Amino acid sequence: MSLDDPTRAGSARQSWSPGSWRARPAVQQPDWTDPDELEMVIDELRRQPPLVFAGEARNLTAALAQVASGKAFLLQAGDCAESFEASTADNLRDKLKVILQMAVVLAYSTGVPVVKVGRIAGQFAKPRSTPTETRDGIELPSFRGHIVNDIGFDPKSRAADPHRILQAYFRSAASLNLLRAFTKGGFADLSKVHLWNLEYVKSSPEGERYEEVAAGIASALRFMSACGIDLDTEPQLHEVDLYTSHEALILGYEEALSRRDSLTGDWYDCSAHMLWIGERTRQIDGAHVEFLAGVHNPLGVKLGPSCSTDEVIALCEQLNPARIPGRLTLISRMGADHIREMLPPLVRAVTDADHPVVWACDPMHGNTFTSASGYKTRHLDAILEEIRGFFAVHRANGTVPGGVHIELTGEDVTECLGGAENVLSEHLEHRYETMCDPRLNARQSLDLAFRLAEMLRSGS
Ligand code: PEP
Ligand code: CO
Repeated sequence: MSLDDPTRAGSARQSWSPGSWRARPAVQQPDWTDPDELEMVIDELRRQPPLVFAGEARNLTAALAQVASGKAFLLQAGDCAESFEASTADNLRDKLKVILQMAVVLAYSTGVPVVKVGRIAGQFAKPRSTPTETRDGIELPSFRGHIVNDIGFDPKSRAADPHRILQAYFRSAASLNLLRAFTKGGFADLSKVHLWNLEYVKSSPEGERYEEVAAGIASALRFMSACGIDLDTEPQLHEVDLYTSHEALILGYEEALSRRDSLTGDWYDCSAHMLWIGERTRQIDGAHVEFLAGVHNPLGVKLGPSCSTDEVIALCEQLNPARIPGRLTLISRMGADHIREMLPPLVRAVTDADHPVVWACDPMHGNTFTSASGYKTRHLDAILEEIRGFFAVHRANGTVPGGVHIELTGEDVTECLGGAENVLSEHLEHRYETMCDPRLNARQSLDLAFRLAEMLRSGS
């Protein structure tokens, strides 16, 4: 059957099951040490409770439909690769603080609601450009994220251990539990907006600028209270919806956490609210597209410079044949030097095909390079330039620049260059802690949020 056969998506759907991806080529899957043990682990996972509920995933689809029509803005952010050991209460709290701060800056400056989606509570799997890594003549499997192996360069650390899959599930559950407590239990109350400013950020120019926003919010709340509005009864002022997301890479894990929703009878991948397909796994006849086509969560797909108009349309048809607004987010990651030339044909093709997608910009993965000091890094200027290009393309085409997809941490790291503190190549070694790609620290993230708010306001 050819790709453009109109019955294809429908017939694929009918024959879909959580395991139907197994008949397709699955790239980027590890060589597990013991396949029998892998199946035992997957069976065990099938018996565990889901991490999220179908109704929550549907709420996110509805929120993303608002983004698709320009009535809300998407902020998707978090680690490149979460670490088991670093998923501590303090780290989760500080990452949440940065995301909340960025969202407040964006919403306060633009008056547009912000849909907050973390790369969090399950972002444990990494695609790699090469299956092995060689150091001093020794060749070992590449590090593929803590759901697969460990970062240490020795055979034991790099072995793909199926037990890590269960560990990833329990770590995700613990992280999600704390995030639910933080976002629903008082910590994310708007009256606490001052407390989200991290200690190392407070005295910086970005931190002071944030304090002005926080003071503005406090005074608006006092004003509403003085007008007789009972702020205690408005849940939006006291709670936040933070959705979770990760790259759906290790398909056995995602399959084992898929559940049929008792209300609708539809399948959902209950490992996170939103799942995305990476640049390396978006083959139209591949296992990842097959699996995600059948679950009803909102989905993302990364689109790099090699993506053709035929491919993007095939992805839309396969993943969202019913053209449901909010179901599909296309996340372009072209690089600052390419976006103005590479994105427009894709935007036009999707618009002409009448697909109601969310367009988001990942300004991180097309702007990575190795610094003179030997570190994998990114410059904040290139990141901002790609976002400027993204806005320019959408404004020129009359489409909606819906959101951004950012790699960041609350920790005071030196992994990306630039920003108001001007991290230089020679500073990278000071606190370079990422297990995978370089992340913006909280100061750089806030800086980005203020610049983004200006771009959203000025229309440029
Ligand atoms: C990522 O988001 O960390 C990633 C690997 O991205 P991409 O698939 O776009 O390269
Ligand atoms: Co990354």
